[in-house]
Amino acid sequence: MSGYAQVLHSLGPPDNMRWERWPISAPAADEVRLRHTAIGFNFADTYHRSGIPHPWLVPPCPVVIGFEAVGIVEDIGSEVTGFKIGDRVAYAVPPLGSYSEVRNYPTKHLVHVPEGLQDKQVAALLLKGMTAYYLLHQTYSVQPGDTILVHAAAGAMGQILCQWGKSLGATIVGTVSTDKKAEAAHEAGCDYPVVRSKESFVDKVWQVSDGEGAAVVYESIGKDTLQRSLDSLRPMGMCAAYGHVSGPPDPVDIIRDLGRRGSLFITRPAIMHYVDKRKDLELAAKKLFDAISSGIVEANVNYEYALKDAPKAHQTVESGKTVGATILTP
Ligand SMILES: NC(=O)c1ccc[n+]([C@@H]2O[C@H](COP(=O)([O-])OP(=O)(O)OC[C@H]3O[C@@H](n4cnc5c(N)ncnc54)[C@H](OP(=O)(O)O)[C@@H]3O)[C@@H](O)[C@H]2O)c1
Repeated sequence: MSGYAQVLHSLGPPDNMRWERWPISAPAADEVRLRHTAIGFNFADTYHRSGIPHPWLVPPCPVVIGFEAVGIVEDIGSEVTGFKIGDRVAYAVPPLGSYSEVRNYPTKHLVHVPEGLQDKQVAALLLKGMTAYYLLHQTYSVQPGDTILVHAAAGAMGQILCQWGKSLGATIVGTVSTDKKAEAAHEAGCDYPVVRSKESFVDKVWQVSDGEGAAVVYESIGKDTLQRSLDSLRPMGMCAAYGHVSGPPDPVDIIRDLGRRGSLFITRPAIMHYVDKRKDLELAAKKLFDAISSGIVEANVNYEYALKDAPKAHQTVESGKTVGATILTP
């Protein structure tokens, strides 16, 4: 059988994807065949499409990218347990292939969607919400009274970090590019939005923390901000360099950059490592679904594109102008 998909013919600009028929084989023994109902858009999709900065993550073209979606199980492989035809399920890690109407996906990283949650809501939140969970609870365990620094605080990840971080009792300094984004970050729970071109976020952190510094920085911008993020940290503070939308940062010197500033920690965390084991995936998904149900975390879906218009979604998100989340609908 086949279904329509956005097929990437060579790494490069958004128009290298084309809306075409894509063959689907029968599901392998450990796979289910899914019909997607909503697809999560992630900034990393633009990395996979362009091949910058890590082309090794993408299988050879032609390929279908995307790694987050909600769908209905249409068929199951011979050894599948725990999932049946008709189940409403979701996933948020590779293998790539979510920019499609129909696909096969291994059950190892599949979760059931609880009653009461909407498909579009889950497509907007599963990957980014589980990422916020591990960043706020596992990479560094945020404590009441901590000052934390969140970059791109009005973005899809940034808003969730602000919502959830606020509920943990943190004081949040968030960086944004415009006054309008500062308002959106504030609404999401950011106490001190800083427009990066107008004000120093380093000074703001030290000022609002009474000279303590930030316990943790959620560093998603990379090249343009990493060194100043390190300047914001208290001794033994944690830099969670989980993204690099402005490009990969320059190499970090462990003596000059970390030791001199006060025994700092730095890590480059990625969701696929934090939820690779089934028990970790189930815990992160449960914590997220509970946080959604209790109103701590909300999907702020401001951009919805038909899957066949995915190249437009890439142009919009790469422009850096978006506020909140983007989804695709098949
Ligand atoms: N490691 C993980 O497990 C993991 C999981 C999820 C996401 N991520 C990463 O988190 C980052 C944010 O993802 P997202 O989907 O939430 O994106 P997003 O924050 O909604 O969009 C990116 C934002 O970054 C800011 N930005 C600053 N410099 C930019 C530039 N040169 N080009 C484009 N944007 C720029 C813009 O906000 P301002 O205008 O306010 O500056 C823009 O809106 C990405 O790097 C993504 O790969 C990592």
